[in-house]
Amino acid sequence: MCGIVGYVGHRDVLPILINGLKRLEYRGYDSAGIATYNESQGINLVKTKGKMANLEVLLESSYYQESFLGIGHTRWATHGIPNDVNSHPHASNSGDLVLVHNGIIENYESIKNLLIKRGYEFKSDTDTEVLVNLIEEVKKKEQVKLGKAVQIALNQVVGAYAIAVFDINKPNEIVAARLGSPLVIGIGAESNEHFIASDIHPFIEYTKSVVYLEEGELAIVKGKKIKIRNIKDDKLKSILITELNVELEEIRKGDYEHFMLKEIHEQPKVILDTYRGRLSENKDMIKMSGLIDNKEILSKIDRIVILGCGSSYIAGLLGEYLLEDFIGIPVEVEYSSEFRYRNPIIRENDLFIAISQSGETADTLAALKLVKSKNAFTFGICNVVGSSIARLTDAGAYTHAGVEIGVASTKALMSQMIMLYMFAIHLAQIRQKLSQDKFNIYRDELLSLPEKIERALALEPAIKKIAYIYSEANNFLYLGRKYNYPMALEGALKLKEISYIHAEGYPAAEMKHGPIALIDNDMPVVVIATENENSEKIISNIQEIKARNGRVIGIIREDSKLKSLFDHAIEIPSTFDQLMPIISLVPLQLLAYHIAVIKGKNVDQPRNLAKSVTVE
Ligand code: AGP
Repeated sequence: MCGIVGYVGHRDVLPILINGLKRLEYRGYDSAGIATYNESQGINLVKTKGKMANLEVLLESSYYQESFLGIGHTRWATHGIPNDVNSHPHASNSGDLVLVHNGIIENYESIKNLLIKRGYEFKSDTDTEVLVNLIEEVKKKEQVKLGKAVQIALNQVVGAYAIAVFDINKPNEIVAARLGSPLVIGIGAESNEHFIASDIHPFIEYTKSVVYLEEGELAIVKGKKIKIRNIKDDKLKSILITELNVELEEIRKGDYEHFMLKEIHEQPKVILDTYRGRLSENKDMIKMSGLIDNKEILSKIDRIVILGCGSSYIAGLLGEYLLEDFIGIPVEVEYSSEFRYRNPIIRENDLFIAISQSGETADTLAALKLVKSKNAFTFGICNVVGSSIARLTDAGAYTHAGVEIGVASTKALMSQMIMLYMFAIHLAQIRQKLSQDKFNIYRDELLSLPEKIERALALEPAIKKIAYIYSEANNFLYLGRKYNYPMALEGALKLKEISYIHAEGYPAAEMKHGPIALIDNDMPVVVIATENENSEKIISNIQEIKARNGRVIGIIREDSKLKSLFDHAIEIPSTFDQLMPIISLVPLQLLAYHIAVIKGKNVDQPRNLAKSVTVE
């Protein structure tokens, strides 16, 4: 996924583009570029392979005249390797049009061949350069303005896009459009300036008033006004302004070395924010409007299917255990990418829950559209307000984890798990499966979590020492049973994605069915052994590892008798078995974080990754 930013108004555009792109870098960072325009200098297009720092060096040494119109882009490569020429922005053959794009044009080759026959030449391997020249060809052939040319051209492409494009012959406007990738317009103060971006971060110090472009919409953005039309039927859309309540502070690292560490330490507050406003006045029930308003439908549900990718999929796995415990109906968890390409069974009395931090993950969005086409009821658990998945589902609940900049998901996953816990309890209440006494016990435990997470965070120095001991390992195995099995997967995912150490998560009992062949002194095993029930089973797993000269790191309860079994033990506060994963998540995050830092990795922007995968 990439980040795009644009501005038209009365301020010098360059600093707005640079700061905006820096805040979008978490969306993709293998190249970056900007293009500005003013009468005397004309187009100033500067782009380069590598991170924003490379672009800033280039800009410092390049001539620039103050401009009031410009666009920028930070890239996660889809078509064309990351290099200077494939970086965005891309100019059309005439040099009049300049465009940035987040997404994929699937039929770009056939369009490219057609344009080549009409004399167009291409410098890059990208689908984006094809798109800007298609718009140019339409503009010339149909003799229309940029907005109309973009609309006609987009009706000829297949794929996903969020674009911003300007024409030097009309340098007081930017045309933006989206399908399958997010785009938001910031309404400037005194409405004589407008911002365009992939999300709200690039401009929140200038305005909190935004317009979310909907799927299949095109906006003509001038300094003084904006017009929004539907790309297919050309219908004019009324402008719906949303007021944000995000502060700039939220997207700054503060005293932390990395966003990821800051976001790990924000988790006690995130738990409070996730359940804030979701307990009734006298705290005798959970209230989720998305569920209460659909009581009738939910009372008939006889199967739940959870869709997600990555850490969101893992949250769904915990949700499966919780929902089967509390509701007693079948629950399945599906990788969105696998679900959408099977011939899945989708029935009227199914409830589909889509979990997505960004609300823009292409596979989850596509799986959701498939479900919606079969009229099953859908519920979204998203973090980004106004995101595509949040807007597509029949009902939903925002996790309110705040902005998550670190590419590796931490607080967002924590909030998803808390949300699933509340969802399960609430649905149990709706379906009269939970007595008030039982509810009160679970509620009190939920309210005790922030303090317990604080205590788990206080273990960081000890965890850092363990990280030093094991940071040279080339492989890790993570084991957990039942509610801890999803955390074994998450611990492995965190380590993989930020330290580049190969790691696998497994159900502890499965170790004997293959992975035990891997065990030796060079394969550290992290065992999440917090369960009260089954503890004798996990003891035998640990002894099997030790008997093969394996080294074992244990995540155990503070009062656990298992401590002596481990080479290193991390003792965490106790709670119910169902909630232990929420606490064991913290040492797993910190272990991965410190190993990655010790190995000198870019923790916030790991190689090859992007914060939200909006391509399939
Ligand atoms: C998790 O650390 C990863 N960054 C990744 O697996 C992520 O969870 C996945 O891409 C799903 O993203 P979403 O929650 O925004 O849909």
